[in-house]
Amino acid sequence: MNVVASAPEGLEKYLAEEIANLGGLNINTYKRFINFECDYATFYRVHFYSRLAFRFYRTIASFTCYDKQSLYEGVRDSFEWLDWLHYEKTFNVQVTGRTSSLSHTHFTALEVKNSITDLQQAVWEKRSNISLNHPDFIIHLHLNNNKATISLQSSVESLHKRGYRPAVGNAPLKENLASGLINMTQWNGKVPLIDIMCGSGTFLIEAVNQFLEVPMNIDKVYLFENWLDFRKDIYLSEKNKAKNKIINYAKLPKIIGCEINTKVFEQAEVNTSLAGLENYIELINNDFLELQLKFTPGIIICNPPYGKKLGNENELIFLYEQIGIFLKNNFSGWEFWLLSGNPKLTKYLKMKSSLKIPVSNGGIDCRWIKYLIR
Ligand SMILES: C[S@@+](CC[C@H](N)C(=O)[O-])C[C@H]1O[C@@H](n2cnc3c(N)ncnc32)[C@H](O)[C@@H]1O
Repeated sequence: MNVVASAPEGLEKYLAEEIANLGGLNINTYKRFINFECDYATFYRVHFYSRLAFRFYRTIASFTCYDKQSLYEGVRDSFEWLDWLHYEKTFNVQVTGRTSSLSHTHFTALEVKNSITDLQQAVWEKRSNISLNHPDFIIHLHLNNNKATISLQSSVESLHKRGYRPAVGNAPLKENLASGLINMTQWNGKVPLIDIMCGSGTFLIEAVNQFLEVPMNIDKVYLFENWLDFRKDIYLSEKNKAKNKIINYAKLPKIIGCEINTKVFEQAEVNTSLAGLENYIELINNDFLELQLKFTPGIIICNPPYGKKLGNENELIFLYEQIGIFLKNNFSGWEFWLLSGNPKLTKYLKMKSSLKIPVSNGGIDCRWIKYLIR
């Protein structure tokens, strides 16, 4: 199969590494997505183990496309729709990109839909219904430089929604972004990991699951189950392997989350428990300034408010000053990683960074910054 996987901006290279480790071949990296080739088993497996992908799309056709007519004909002629899409199955069409004469994604999607349903109508005198929320197929069209690429989306929901987080605190990180950021710290699961403002607990849950390679999204219903060449035997074999995977929680070091807001803290408790990690992640409902930890040095992570989604910039200056003073006084020898969305505030830490990695957090241009605490 030829597959496209989408990822948060800044994590593409890490997604490529992850997919290579899971068995993907001939991987190419682009802005916000990668493409690769794989066999059926790998295709099914990446849905359980890719921590960074939002979605997977299987490419089924591509053709030159300049305008409405070449789109209509290209869609009609480039794929065996009648074999794959019976009129009793529902679908919807998603569009990304544009050409000069196809610049309204809504109208472009309508044209794709018409091309497919006209074909069905001509043969069966019946056509598929469109379903926005519960489709059997999602057909994705990408337009770029007068080239149209048609893919089938493999899941309705984005895979970053792992299901352990019905409760979210203030400005939560997406699970796949949190996982990617942990990946960049190269935390090896041997030293303590502390999130001093843990919010809904995303960083810590993702860190543990990533380190122990816990499979995710195993019980989701996938759209690929409706595809003509769905290999149920291979899928069930991969699913059973994931379900029966033995996870060795015993090897975890100290993992601690601190959250000042009691409501948010309680949400973090719910989330860690839904993730099955309540015995491995210690949550403390307090100001991080009260933390007294006497462990061998490890990694401290922090996604503080940065005055865009949460908090007023001026009030936050004091908070950033406190973080800097607290870390320097108590955590000499530790590594500190800060997700900064506001360079003006970051300088109030009065700490010298050793690495700055650009990432986008929900459209906000951020830096994942590493400090060695002296
Ligand atoms: C941007 S949110 C963190 C979101 C988190 N990464 C997640 O995915 O849910 C910042 C959190 O820091 C907490 N916070 C603010 N000041 C704090 C303090 N002094 N001590 C501990 N937590 C604090 C806030 O209540 C808020 O939940």
